[in-house]
Amino acid sequence: MITGASGGIGLETAKRMASQNYQVTLVARNEEKLNKAVKNLSGAGHTVLVADLTNKDDLQKLVNHLETEEYDVLINNAGAGIYGKFIEIPLADQLAGMQLNMDALVTLSYGFLQNAKSGDALINIASLLAHSSLPGGSVYAATKSFVANFSESLWYEFRQKGIFVMGFNPGATASDFHANAGGHVSDFPKFVMSSVEDVAKELVKALEKRQKPRVVQGWKNRFMLFGFRWLNRKSAVTIMGQISPGMGK
Ligand SMILES: NC(=O)c1ccc[n+]([C@@H]2O[C@H](COP(=O)([O-])OP(=O)(O)OC[C@H]3O[C@@H](n4cnc5c(N)ncnc54)[C@H](OP(=O)(O)O)[C@@H]3O)[C@@H](O)[C@H]2O)c1
Repeated sequence: MITGASGGIGLETAKRMASQNYQVTLVARNEEKLNKAVKNLSGAGHTVLVADLTNKDDLQKLVNHLETEEYDVLINNAGAGIYGKFIEIPLADQLAGMQLNMDALVTLSYGFLQNAKSGDALINIASLLAHSSLPGGSVYAATKSFVANFSESLWYEFRQKGIFVMGFNPGATASDFHANAGGHVSDFPKFVMSSVEDVAKELVKALEKRQKPRVVQGWKNRFMLFGFRWLNRKSAVTIMGQISPGMGK
């Protein structure tokens, strides 16, 4: 099961996994996009589930589904952010983001892990921002720190049972995410941008390897992260504030 699979990283991951003989269930809100996506997957036996993960009934429906069907892998990929200064974004929208990026992810992880068996895997999509703060995206960056740390703890709790848990952290990726967040892909220098194909390729490779609890996607992102380690927090957050698409608004 892959959440947020009607487009972007989720859909590209679904394509890659389908080509490796996985039977995939695509989850998102947009039924039309899901139906189109599932038709274009290679192989057979793929399904779609229309669900808004911020809706309690829809979320419960998915948990029930995870409990009754036998899934080997859950990829909690659905996520969203909003660019802008904290006080200028309606509180309700920021709380909805926390519900999607954290509450839904924890709820689905719980449902999946209750029935998980040796060999199964849970992948939670966090972000490079899990390792940093982001003025102009403060709540979003904080939700991703939550996801990365949560996943790392679960990696330890479940490894003895042969169940692999990983927090996967993409850097800036060219998807609809930025437009949905009120920004543009062009807000970022081209050299830091990854394609959804590159991100999905690395994600599936890390899932196959099943080694690390925390994987940062892309050598350029790993290099940047390494550089940031040498900065004090004041300098790091100042740089992030200066380059953040959310601070110009
Ligand atoms: N793009 C980046 O630069 C970047 C960097 C680091 C991490 N990430 C993370 O990577 C993940 C995927 O992002 P992406 O770049 O592929 O973004 P995207 O293109 O905007 O895709 C987001 C997916 O989540 C689904 N979704 C959004 N809200 C939902 C809800 N309430 N219920 C169910 N599904 C919902 C969307 O489908 P519907 O609209 O059809 O529901 C879509 O399929 C996210 O967790 C994001 O935070 C992205």
